[in-house]
Amino acid sequence: MALLLLVPALFAQDGLTLEKKEQFLLKASITRERASKKGITGTVRATLSDGTITHDASIQSINEQKAKFEGVMGSEINFRDTYLFNIAAYRLGKMLGLGGMIPPSVPRAHVGYGSAWTWWVEDVLMDEGERAKKNTMGPDPDKWGRQTLIVRVFDQLIANTDRNAGNTLYDKDWRIWMIDHTRAFRLHKQLLNPKMLDKCDRQFLAAMKSLNLGGLKAELSPYLRQDEMKAILQRRDVIVSYFEKAGPDKLYEYLPQR
Ligand SMILES: Nc1ncnc2c1ncn2[C@@H]1O[C@H](COP(=O)(O)OP(=O)(O)O)[C@@H](O)[C@H]1O
Ligand SMILES: [Mg+2]
Repeated sequence: MALLLLVPALFAQDGLTLEKKEQFLLKASITRERASKKGITGTVRATLSDGTITHDASIQSINEQKAKFEGVMGSEINFRDTYLFNIAAYRLGKMLGLGGMIPPSVPRAHVGYGSAWTWWVEDVLMDEGERAKKNTMGPDPDKWGRQTLIVRVFDQLIANTDRNAGNTLYDKDWRIWMIDHTRAFRLHKQLLNPKMLDKCDRQFLAAMKSLNLGGLKAELSPYLRQDEMKAILQRRDVIVSYFEKAGPDKLYEYLPQR
């Protein structure tokens, strides 16, 4: 019961809806800009203002495709590293009730390059690298665990090859934020790492079950190719059948009822 009462508070953030943040990212003007990486496709941190709200955004313009790529996952064929996947991950996350765990990301050109403009996560305490080094789970290990299990399942669903220590952030309330999905949405029908499946949030599982190609196309078409969407559904089937076999003991509640 205590958990159920807590949940709405966890997701009520700064009073702005996801749609409001998306509109802000699409329309607000840049008042200040810092390159956080070298090169024209490097990530930029920009301060935006619409006259009322001032907030930062991360602007990513990377958009590469290689027939073969040698990376930490070994060699990958049909490798894509693209800002489009950032937008796709946010939009898919929203479909699955994870709007409070992935910051809004919208398509908008930047100095002539197609880019993803992503809401900057405020009050970041640390990233996953620092958390692991400190060997802490924060003041509420149970809350940490429930969120971490969602990240693990989501990464298997989207075949994310790059959940590195800098791509998971913790805010001051120990809320987890997933960022930087430019190397996800691989074409694998199987999970990249089935061992990552242990337990699953009940709402998240129900939302995964309800995904279908028509719905994905409607939300993700400009950002993902059809074969990338079909691969999501194939991995979804693997995840759903795993948890159906595992039984109700492996399900828990964290996300609010929808
Ligand atoms: N939306 C964001 N909110 C807060 N911090 C961010 C955000 N985007 C990026 N950062 C910070 O900048 C770092 C680098 O950005 P990232 O998008 O991961 O690009 P890359 O890994 O390609 O450099 C992140 O690890 C994080 O610390
Ligand atoms: Mg990163």
